[in-house]
Amino acid sequence: MDIVVSGIRSTGKLHLGNYFGALKNFVKMQHENKCYFFIADYHSLTTHPTPDDLHGSVKQVLAEYIACGLDPEVATLYVQSDVPEIPELYLLLNMNAYLGELERCTSFKDKIRSNPNNVNAGLLTYPTLMAADIIIHKAHKVPVGKDQEQHLEMTRTFANRFNRLYNVDLFPEPAAYNFGEQLVKIPGLDGSGKMGKSEGNAIYLSDNPATIRKKVMRAVSDSGPTEPNQPKPEPIQNLFTIMNVVSSDETHQFYSDKYNDCEIRYGDMKKQLAEDIITFTEPIRERIEAILADNEYLKKVAKHGAEKARESASKTVKEVREIIGFRPF
Ligand code: TRP
Repeated sequence: MDIVVSGIRSTGKLHLGNYFGALKNFVKMQHENKCYFFIADYHSLTTHPTPDDLHGSVKQVLAEYIACGLDPEVATLYVQSDVPEIPELYLLLNMNAYLGELERCTSFKDKIRSNPNNVNAGLLTYPTLMAADIIIHKAHKVPVGKDQEQHLEMTRTFANRFNRLYNVDLFPEPAAYNFGEQLVKIPGLDGSGKMGKSEGNAIYLSDNPATIRKKVMRAVSDSGPTEPNQPKPEPIQNLFTIMNVVSSDETHQFYSDKYNDCEIRYGDMKKQLAEDIITFTEPIRERIEAILADNEYLKKVAKHGAEKARESASKTVKEVREIIGFRPF
């Protein structure tokens, strides 16, 4: 059974794109592998050193993932900052991480360009913290998107370097967990591109019905087809793509036929789409709220997760310390 590690951004409220993308796969993956899922709250400080409500964000994200089907009894679900072995391994890895390679990292270069007033050491060493997250459980697989591939490559570099420098075979080389065909891409409501938090085009699982209706009615469309059976322009195709995952086949077919007959009224289609999104997200939103209201439960989940994560993490750190040469008297 493969060991899988994945970090979740602590600022990321879940939207429909996450739900039909990575999350659905996480839920499946947890039964087929030994999974460690954690909320990367330390990482968030690299760009937001004085967060408004760090604890609130972590709680929200934890509740949302559980509401969507991550099972704390099946996977190990924890908060990064609850596992002190991670920063310890991070410190040790930093001793063998070189300034040049850290400075060349694309995400670092992007961040210093977008925020030149906060080029801190945590930002520079973001990849070593991420490597520590991953190799602390001796992971084989890491589900990553395109934007994280370089970080994973650096993790392999740090893991291999450790093995080589100390002449051991401690860390396996973590590979990308490829969802392949199963990864459904959900577009945003602004006409082009995928749904994303930073794009400002997302529908969140925690959005209430009024918000969802407002967002969908404002989605980009056009004045409609002028000839039958034409290919759909991107903004229109996007509405159909979302409809495809939340509405019934009949509904999707109905509007597709209307489009092909040049009889489509986007106002009607959007109203239907909004109601179908609401029907789909309502039970999830209710679960999120129920979980958030039960602090005792969340506390138990976080404690149980931290215990399981530390069991594995402390074993690795003990080995690392011995290998480097830290010994008890
Ligand atoms: N860098 C990842 C992101 O921005 C989050 C992350 C932190 C992560 N540590 C990780 C992902 C370890 C996978 C494994 O999305």
